[in-house]
Amino acid sequence: MKKVTINNITMPAIGIGTWNMGDVAVKRSAEIKAIQDEINAGARAIDTAEMYGNGRSERLVGEAIKPFDRHDLFLIDKVLPSNAGKAKLEHSLDQSLKAVGTDYFDLYLLHWRGSIPLAETVNELERVKKAGKIKAWGVSNFDVADMEELWKLQDGTNCVANEDLYNLDRRGIEYDLLPLMKQHQLPLIAYSPLAEADTLSGTLYTNPVIKEIAANHQVGVQQIMLAWVLRIENVLAIPKSGNPEHAMANFNAGEIDLSDDEILALQKEFPTPTKKEPLAVI
Ligand SMILES: NC(=O)c1ccc[n+]([C@@H]2O[C@H](COP(=O)([O-])OP(=O)(O)OC[C@H]3O[C@@H](n4cnc5c(N)ncnc54)[C@H](OP(=O)(O)O)[C@@H]3O)[C@@H](O)[C@H]2O)c1
Repeated sequence: MKKVTINNITMPAIGIGTWNMGDVAVKRSAEIKAIQDEINAGARAIDTAEMYGNGRSERLVGEAIKPFDRHDLFLIDKVLPSNAGKAKLEHSLDQSLKAVGTDYFDLYLLHWRGSIPLAETVNELERVKKAGKIKAWGVSNFDVADMEELWKLQDGTNCVANEDLYNLDRRGIEYDLLPLMKQHQLPLIAYSPLAEADTLSGTLYTNPVIKEIAANHQVGVQQIMLAWVLRIENVLAIPKSGNPEHAMANFNAGEIDLSDDEILALQKEFPTPTKKEPLAVI
């Protein structure tokens, strides 16, 4: 199983995304089972946010993790940019902790940049960290200029991860952001690693090269897409699945090693960008 280390905690490099979970009542029990099966298989990281279904995802995560020892998990939550200042951040965090049913998050992310000055957000994140409500903080949807601005701020280098969109068809961050993060030893949390079931580009699930590699490994195209993300070091991929069978297949993708030839074949189909691209976001 590929591993990632965030804030000195080493865990499987496949985590659990939860956007849209808890939104549809009839899917709820399957979604809970999907999360629990993955935890039983060894998954540790779970990614949620106050934004997801206005707390529905957080509450579903809370229900799913009840039977487990909280200390075995790595819980990631995110604050909305509009709540990321002195006036609201701690209240938002308290609401999220209550919804998930825990007294701390392992990682608390600024979901994306808004109008509140970054320095104010960092001050608040440091304050709630000292209060023990979060173990560490990070950012999401940050590009090179955002990271450079952050690192210049007091305590800005305490950021422990950046969560960005990354999959075979969205490789823009490889041009400049990923090398910079590598230089600073900042882990990537790769969101939408399955391109939202290929709805972002519509070219992946039917691609003959991906299909052939999947057939060689006797897995689905989704597992090859995840294995491809995990070919780089220090990345946590957080596919979302509310289907227990899919969820287990995704977790097991952490065991797949792609050969150099397979990586080269994928490179030919989906080349690395040769110039700066705007940061891909959802
Ligand atoms: N920080 C941010 O701004 C941000 C933005 C977007 C997402 N995220 C996080 O990243 C997570 C993942 O991204 P995402 O939810 O956008 O998309 P994703 O993980 O790329 O794709 C999820 C879709 O793929 C399907 N799927 C998953 N595994 C499958 C499998 N093995 N076989 C067939 N279909 C499969 C799911 O359907 P089933 O449920 O039916 O399996 C779902 O429709 C989110 O849940 C969220 O936690 C963060």
